[in-house]
Order: sequence, then structure tokens, then C-alpha cells
Amino acid sequence: MNENNVNQTISLTKNLDCEKSVDQLLDQLVKPKNHQETDDFYSIWASNYEKDIKEMDYNGGQIAAKYFLQMNFNKNDKILDIGAGTGIIGEILNKNGYHNLDALDNNDEMLKILKEKNCYQNIIKSIVTPDRKLPINDQQYDVIIMAGIFCPGHIDYRSLEQIIRITKSGGFICWSMGNPKIYADRDQLYSDDNFDRYISLLCDKMKWLSVLGYPIIVENYIKNLSGLFYAMQVV
Ligand SMILES: C[S@@+](CC[C@H](N)C(=O)[O-])C[C@H]1O[C@@H](n2cnc3c(N)ncnc32)[C@H](O)[C@@H]1O
Repeated sequence: MNENNVNQTISLTKNLDCEKSVDQLLDQLVKPKNHQETDDFYSIWASNYEKDIKEMDYNGGQIAAKYFLQMNFNKNDKILDIGAGTGIIGEILNKNGYHNLDALDNNDEMLKILKEKNCYQNIIKSIVTPDRKLPINDQQYDVIIMAGIFCPGHIDYRSLEQIIRITKSGGFICWSMGNPKIYADRDQLYSDDNFDRYISLLCDKMKWLSVLGYPIIVENYIKNLSGLFYAMQVV
């Protein structure tokens, strides 16, 4: 992290009046960045993250947890929350009897807050990129859960092949995200239905199957914008 930023914190909503649009918030948060820029961003945002997302009405973590619970996974299943941030998903899953839960994120400051909640067994600090092997053996997890990480400047969705690698055969990969179409103008990765094509490509390669009825359209993912909850089963 840039030394000038070490003691800096930001609040994304501090100077916002209610009239300002979600677009302006998304402009700061959801735009193509390199990994260092993303990490620096979360380092200075971490202490205000939970307060700010309430004001921004970002509900990706709660939505992912809610639909995860509807899937009635076994309480003993080994679960990994990727891009776990401050651990919002872990808190909800713990309260609902899921304790065999690990967290992975690349940002130390976010993970510091997550650790204090004592919701996760193992905490893995790692970057997720398509070209770097995750520090996790093959077929370790029954369920992967994620929220708010497939968008510009965050985890490149082409890392999903690796995420499949660490999931057991027959296991599930579930996540909430904004509608990929809203990112099309912001990032080439999301233009021309590239995201949908990649999900389908992994089906064609028999890496996973879409669980019947998913993705589900979810209301109020951020502000009044709907999002999606995906559930895929690894072959
Ligand atoms: C919008 S937050 C979502 C946190 C949490 N899932 C939630 O919904 O509240 C995105 C998180 O992804 C992490 N992240 C972004 N890019 C990453 C990458 N390439 N590898 C690992 N973590 C990443 C950030 O550090 C941050 O904690």
C-alpha cells in the first residue's frame, strides 16, 4: 500500500446526500482497477465498510446468506466464503447453525474486522486471480459462497475454474451479484454478455451444471437495483 495512505480512512457515504445516485457510488467502487488499487481501496474503506453499505443499501451479503439457507445444505458441510470481507455472511450462517466455515479475502483490514467476529474456523489471506493457484488443495469444500465479488475491479470471474478445482465433485458454488448487464459499459469483461457466456462455457466443458431454477432474480441488491443469486453444482 502507498505509504501516504497508511493512516487514511474513507467513508464513501459521508458526503452523500440522498439524491445522489447509485451510479456515483458505483463509479468509485465498481470500476476496473489493478489488484493493488483494489486492495488499497479496501484498506482505507474497511473501518467504514459496514456503516457505508447500510447507507448505500448494498445487501449482497444478506441476500447470499438468505438464499444459501433456502438450499438446506447439511449443517456439517465444509463451506468457504470467498471475498468474505468483514464476515457478514459468516455471522448469518453461524446464527443458523453452520459452523464449519472458512473465509478467504485478500485484504488485511477487512479480515481484521472479520476475525473479531469469531465466525470462521480458518481465515485464508489470498488474492483470487485466474492465473495464480489458490493456496488450497483440490476438492476441499462442499459449498462455496460469495457475495459482491464479481464486478469490475474485484475478482475476475475467470477465476471460477480455480474455485471449481477446490470444490468437491457434487459440491455447490453459490453467489449473489449485481446484474452483469449493468457493468457492461464499465468493463469489457462484462460487455457483450461475456459473463453469461463464461458461465455457459464451463457448463459446456462439463465443469459444472446450473442448479434447476437458478439464477434467481433478487430484489434490492443495491439500492433499488435487482441482482442475481446463482447456484451451480460441480460435476
Ligand atoms: C464488496 S466486498 C464484499 C464483502 C462481503 N462478501 C460482503 O458481501 O459484504 C468485496 C471483497 O472482496 C475482496 N476482494 C476484491 N478483489 C479480490 C481478489 N482479487 N482476491 C481476493 N479478494 C478480493 C475485497 O478485499 C473485499 O473484502
